[in-house]
Amino acid sequence: MTSHIIPVEEFDYVVFGGTGDLAERKLIPSLYHRLEDGQIVGSSRIIGAARSRMSSGEYREFAEKALNEHVGSEKLDPAVVEDFLSRLHYAAVDAKSQDGWDDLKALLGDVGRVRAYYLAVSPAIFGDIADRLNENGLIRENSRLVIEKPIGRDLQSARDLNEEVGRHFREDQIFRIDHYLGKETVQNLLALRFANTLYEPVWNAAHIDHVQITVAETLGVEGRGNYYDKSGAIRDMVQNHLLQLLCLVAMEPPSSSDANAVRDEKLKVLRALRPINSANVGDFTVRGQYTAGAANGAAVPAYLDEVDDKQSDTETFVAIKAEIENWRWAGVPFYMRTGKRLATRMSEIVIQFKPVPHSIFDEDAGKLASNQLVLRLQPDEGVQQIIMIKDPGPGGMRLRQVALDMSFQESFGAKSPDAYERLLLDVIRGNQTLFMRRDEVEAAWKWIEPIISAWGETSQTVRKYTAGSWGPAASVALIERDGRTWVDDLN
Ligand code: BG6
Repeated sequence: MTSHIIPVEEFDYVVFGGTGDLAERKLIPSLYHRLEDGQIVGSSRIIGAARSRMSSGEYREFAEKALNEHVGSEKLDPAVVEDFLSRLHYAAVDAKSQDGWDDLKALLGDVGRVRAYYLAVSPAIFGDIADRLNENGLIRENSRLVIEKPIGRDLQSARDLNEEVGRHFREDQIFRIDHYLGKETVQNLLALRFANTLYEPVWNAAHIDHVQITVAETLGVEGRGNYYDKSGAIRDMVQNHLLQLLCLVAMEPPSSSDANAVRDEKLKVLRALRPINSANVGDFTVRGQYTAGAANGAAVPAYLDEVDDKQSDTETFVAIKAEIENWRWAGVPFYMRTGKRLATRMSEIVIQFKPVPHSIFDEDAGKLASNQLVLRLQPDEGVQQIIMIKDPGPGGMRLRQVALDMSFQESFGAKSPDAYERLLLDVIRGNQTLFMRRDEVEAAWKWIEPIISAWGETSQTVRKYTAGSWGPAASVALIERDGRTWVDDLN
């Protein structure tokens, strides 16, 4: 998968929150991998910025530890590590005052290369950092700003955040990361739909019965209880990751892969989602919360034992039946579900085709199952086309279902890069195709916010599910009411 590496131009990446969890687990390892593949060239630098006082030498020690832990010491190439560490620098800055900004300015100097500011910090200080960057004359034509979710907790707060950063950065300089868009399978969805003629003619309500989007995790809240308890699965996962997946499945073919062409089409999907409000929220959504159970063979505590508020009714699971009100998708439900502490870690999109209109086979041939196209995001990224074939051998016509199975790892012999690797360098390339535009984020909130309000208005309580299960029974009922079933695991 590394055979066509095209180096990016020289850059300075300034990571605010450079000593934080995201930098340690994702950003530093991802940039290391890109250097290892020869994509980072010249004297490109990575500058960690945070409040704590630390020398560049100490920051290099921090980064080396992060690489040992998150790439794995046995996988590190000492020469690449040395090169990587020599590119690292550190500046102690305070987002709320002028402290440290002169040092950062001096460090950045007057070189004209691309500069990316990655805000791996709380959204509460996005605006402060943008203000400081502006006051210190650090924003130039080729400067870019990268921000992470949560972009707001409702429509108004999302608008406010977008305003705060939009005061100093143009929209084409702002890169809103949704790391799901950097996943290999997600990009493959675009290839599958628009680089083949096979699927487009059947990609509509005439041929597709329904779509399922599942993002199941076995992890719990992992020490992020404070953030998570105020957010819940709908804000943490659905507003961004799941809706982005839905958009890519449902959008019309864009005229090109140009960022705005793609994002215009996604926006139309979000705007065509049928509203869910207090009149129908009970029929279209299920919220759940895990109780004690097991994960990966070990006993795990209940959600309520992991957060401070022992009465919390924050959902750790949500299932939604979404409908898209347009010609292509009228009558085709998109069932989405996501949850923590589910039976297995599995994320996939299932396109369920309609049954054959008439069977020519007699009963002895067995039951005809409808075709499915399965896009597996994790754990083993790949695509499966499920079809009916004749069971091989003599003994008459017996039919059975098989999967034409393509695992990316098996087929291409390489592990897929982490989603961040692709996205971090897309920022340097100035390519916004896999990033969310302001109006998309706001349109997603416009659909999500009434659901959250309706839960409150109708006092829809969370339904308990045992950790290690597939969520509350009501989630099964949500889809089975329509005569359909969740595809839990095809393997
Ligand atoms: C993050 C959520 O955006 O995505 C986490 O905040 C979640 O709660 C994570 O665990 C899932 O990402 P992935 O790539 O592991 O599926």
